[in-house]
Amino acid sequence: LTAAATALALSVTANAASAACDAGEMVIKFSHVTNTDRHPKGIAATLFAERVNTEMNGKACVEVYPNSTLYNDDQVLEAMLQGDVQMAAPSLSKFETFTKQFRIFDLPFMFKNMDAVDAFQNSDTGQAMKESMVRRGLLGLDFWHNGLKQFSANKPLISPSDASGLKFRVQPSDVLVAQMEALGASPQPMAFSEVYGALQTGVVDGQENTWSNIYGQKFFEVQDGITETNHGLIDYMVVTSVDWWEGLDADVRDQLATIMHEVTAERNAAIGEVDSSNRQAVLDAGGVIRELTAEQRQAWVDAMLPVWSKFEADVGADNIAAAQAFNA
Ligand code: LMR
Repeated sequence: LTAAATALALSVTANAASAACDAGEMVIKFSHVTNTDRHPKGIAATLFAERVNTEMNGKACVEVYPNSTLYNDDQVLEAMLQGDVQMAAPSLSKFETFTKQFRIFDLPFMFKNMDAVDAFQNSDTGQAMKESMVRRGLLGLDFWHNGLKQFSANKPLISPSDASGLKFRVQPSDVLVAQMEALGASPQPMAFSEVYGALQTGVVDGQENTWSNIYGQKFFEVQDGITETNHGLIDYMVVTSVDWWEGLDADVRDQLATIMHEVTAERNAAIGEVDSSNRQAVLDAGGVIRELTAEQRQAWVDAMLPVWSKFEADVGADNIAAAQAFNA
């Protein structure tokens, strides 16, 4: 393929037109909920598709369906078990009904920075989590990074008491519900695709998300400002169905896994750059970012840290200790 033809095939794939796949190729549908350009998951999914479609041409063909065009995260895992979609990368907060182990990633202030997250995920403890849902029919292929979360609302959030009484959209996770309750706020679980509208119409007052999602979904347009708390994590598990994966020819499976691991290493290494460019893009577009002093931030830590003890039994005190060791 010429560069132009590759670019065209890619843009067609990004639009999820089945015309990009040739007759006789195995079609792999990859469904996700974010934007494609300048988003960590969007870039990684597109790169994975581009590489499979070039290097496995004639054998396999990945169609990426971004922006919740095929499924929301609350539908995609069931659809995968039905064989209607082969790959997805929901955030780690979206696996509650499949495993309690990922709750560690939702606990506030568990990880100091993305290097600590990366080290924990790549440890034996982290890697074993990829198999934690096998008996429920799902296999984790790799962790993908997005970044640390910030809070935004329709009023300035400086002290945790500013969040008290406000309605915050949360991902459907018991840990995140408990976290918002610890702030005296009212948690409202909601699909990602509905958040902008809910903020705009005042159905909720605020939300928590990463710079890439705050910019990608334009949340800053309908919020007073964003407070840079770095209080939690949004990362992803690329998942597939155990049945589908086990049914592949070994050489096809190995090649897909190799491409996935290489894409993961490349894109996870670039996360700092993507995260900070989206933070800057929020500012450039007129969004307001409020930074906290060490003392102000400590007040948020003090308010939310009690959440850990509620989930220690699910997550395992040993796993918490293992994660904390990477913050040193
Ligand atoms: C959210 O629902 O806020 C995020 O999990 C969306 C995403 O995939 O980053």
